[in-house]
Amino acid sequence: MATDTRTALITGATAGLGKEFARQLAGKGYNLVLVARNQEALASTAESLAGEFGVDAQWIAANLSDPAAPRALYDEAQARGIQVDYLVNNAGIAGPNLLEDTDWAEQQAFFQLMMLSIAELCHLFIPSMQERGFGRVINVASVAGRISRAGGCNYGPSKAWVIALSEELALTVGKDGVNVSALCPGYTHTEFHERAGLMDMKNSMPGWMWYDAETVVRDGIAAAERGKRVYASGRLYRLLDPFFQSVWTRRLFSVSDGR
Ligand SMILES: NC(=O)c1ccc[n+]([C@@H]2O[C@H](COP(=O)([O-])OP(=O)(O)OC[C@H]3O[C@@H](n4cnc5c(N)ncnc54)[C@H](OP(=O)(O)O)[C@@H]3O)[C@@H](O)[C@H]2O)c1
Repeated sequence: MATDTRTALITGATAGLGKEFARQLAGKGYNLVLVARNQEALASTAESLAGEFGVDAQWIAANLSDPAAPRALYDEAQARGIQVDYLVNNAGIAGPNLLEDTDWAEQQAFFQLMMLSIAELCHLFIPSMQERGFGRVINVASVAGRISRAGGCNYGPSKAWVIALSEELALTVGKDGVNVSALCPGYTHTEFHERAGLMDMKNSMPGWMWYDAETVVRDGIAAAERGKRVYASGRLYRLLDPFFQSVWTRRLFSVSDGR
């Protein structure tokens, strides 16, 4: 599939799913550009993957909650002469509660990271993939974007938007050899829940609802190769997804606030 001249840019590449995307794509021969905020983690991840797989692994530090970050990231890649063939928009957090958290700047930073940065990176990197007739884009969404539940009113809606964006992009650029996929993981063992202070919730849930990052990423890369526009990873979530989508069964999974 990949040649050693192809390059994958992965956001959120220092932990969890992003780190695993970097590992698996390096294993397929892709050179890497790793993106996240923590420079130490970026440098050590890049060094260890370059050593393990013999690929070129560069990193660019960026806070994708900053509206200036996607353009700066693109400009830095251009300045280094990097041509991005595989884009994984993966960086993400659980985020504030839309109604209960009062700091609007924090809300804005969340939506910038989860939605606008993804749109802008697609806007910047996809046209040159179209010109070259090859590209792969995986936008990491979530099963949370397939169903509505009472709660924070931020994470699920942002992921639903990522799914809609990916589907429309896929329909638009598929003819040019660029496959765009929204990957929808269910619960996955990463640092996500610990960072969000959700370990009690995680520990209270049955183990069979959880997948490891390796499985989710392997499913996602295979789905992108097959040109799947939306793909729920893990057998359980793939089985449930049609029920989330059906008008007849969707309501069974929509948990309201009790009214
Ligand atoms: N884990 C799950 O159960 C699950 C389920 C469905 C979907 N997802 C989605 O999967 C994606 C990856 O999550 P994960 O579970 O792998 O989480 P994770 O283990 O917490 O890793 C998150 C990564 O994103 C980076 N990041 C966070 N905020 C950033 C920012 N403002 N700018 C740049 N990079 C940032 C982090 O590095 P720095 O802190 O160094 O920036 C880290 O590399 C997310 O989009 C998440 O919504 C996760």
